[in-house]
Amino acid sequence: MTSATLPPRKVGVLGCTGSVGQRFILLLASHPSFTLTAIGASPRSAGHPYAFKVSWKQTSPIPASAAALIIKTCEPANFADCDIVFSGLDADVAGPIETSFLEAGLTVFSNSKNHRRDPITPLMVPLVNTHHFGILDHQRKQRKGTMVTNANCSTTGLVVPLKALIDKFGPLEAVTVTTLQAISGGGYPGVPSFDVLDNVVPYIGGEEEKIEWETGKILAELNEARDEFVHTEIKVSAQCNRVPVIDGHTACVSVKFAKQPAPSVEEIKQAFREFKCEAQELGAPSAPKQAIIVRDEPDRPQPRLDRESEGGYAVVVGRIREDPVLDVKFVGLSHNTVIGAAGSSILNAEVGVLKGLI
Ligand SMILES: NC(=O)c1ccc[n+]([C@@H]2O[C@H](COP(=O)([O-])OP(=O)(O)OC[C@H]3O[C@@H](n4cnc5c(N)ncnc54)[C@H](OP(=O)(O)O)[C@@H]3O)[C@@H](O)[C@H]2O)c1
Repeated sequence: MTSATLPPRKVGVLGCTGSVGQRFILLLASHPSFTLTAIGASPRSAGHPYAFKVSWKQTSPIPASAAALIIKTCEPANFADCDIVFSGLDADVAGPIETSFLEAGLTVFSNSKNHRRDPITPLMVPLVNTHHFGILDHQRKQRKGTMVTNANCSTTGLVVPLKALIDKFGPLEAVTVTTLQAISGGGYPGVPSFDVLDNVVPYIGGEEEKIEWETGKILAELNEARDEFVHTEIKVSAQCNRVPVIDGHTACVSVKFAKQPAPSVEEIKQAFREFKCEAQELGAPSAPKQAIIVRDEPDRPQPRLDRESEGGYAVVVGRIREDPVLDVKFVGLSHNTVIGAAGSSILNAEVGVLKGLI
């Protein structure tokens, strides 16, 4: 699928100095149709040029297009010209700030947890459930603005391969997942180096609950009236660990299929390789050519070697084999600030624009 011509849009970024915000700045600097016109952060950073206030942690330099932009406070009036406002705000402040943007009639694509459980707000992973845009008509009857959220970073890397399996082989009865999550997932400065180097921290507050609940909403059906999500009944058990990796979340996954006998390892590899999503069909410019990349080497995927696959927009899977307890197990890897956060919002927005909704 070649890239569709995406109509131009003016965009803003809230939380521009953070881990997710920096990724937005990088991805938007080379975006073919989205032009960054406004950036916001806390009152501590506001009023200063971006390059002066950001503690830049990316491996590419600060884009020239963003360096001199003056950081604004996160008030709707400062973003009134934006067609789309991307939010990478700290969850402690995102709730009321994003609500104020919604009340001002703006369109918000949020990365934080605050609005994910709202029954008429889509929780959207762009490689999985962009059909959930169907609820926007209903949302707009009740609100002045528009809100779309994307998932927790570790949930995102899990639901993409699960969706491929469900599409091909039907419902899953049970899923267990053990994650090894990068430190950038906790924002900057995140876990102190003294705690994470030479170590594994077997606790990330709230993360296991997010994976276990969000999976059911992302894989939900939209009811016929397009005013409610019917969550998928799927038993998910998650265990989350913080590991000394900068970017890239690894997930060790086991699944049990409802229909027996379960598919073979070769059939599963083929289902992953053949998986297609709406973002690709529409020709969204940031959509990966291959949404799920299957590695056949015995020791892949690895964060350092595989996180940049398809610019970070793909999920890489490997070590697909039979599971003596459930049916099959595999290892997945996803870039937590690209497909797990900023890239997810951007690709969701591209699909919304291509569908004529934004
Ligand atoms: N990191 C990931 O991989 C990831 C993935 C998915 C989702 N998320 C979610 O995305 C959100 C951002 O995460 P992050 O890791 O980027 O966090 P972060 O590095 O801590 O950045 C937080 C941002 O919020 C801003 N902020 C803090 N207090 C504010 C206030 N009172 N008013 C306005 N802005 C304020 C900060 O600005 P200052 O610099 O001015 O303080 C900064 O730009 C969180 O909700 C997180 O859960 C993160």
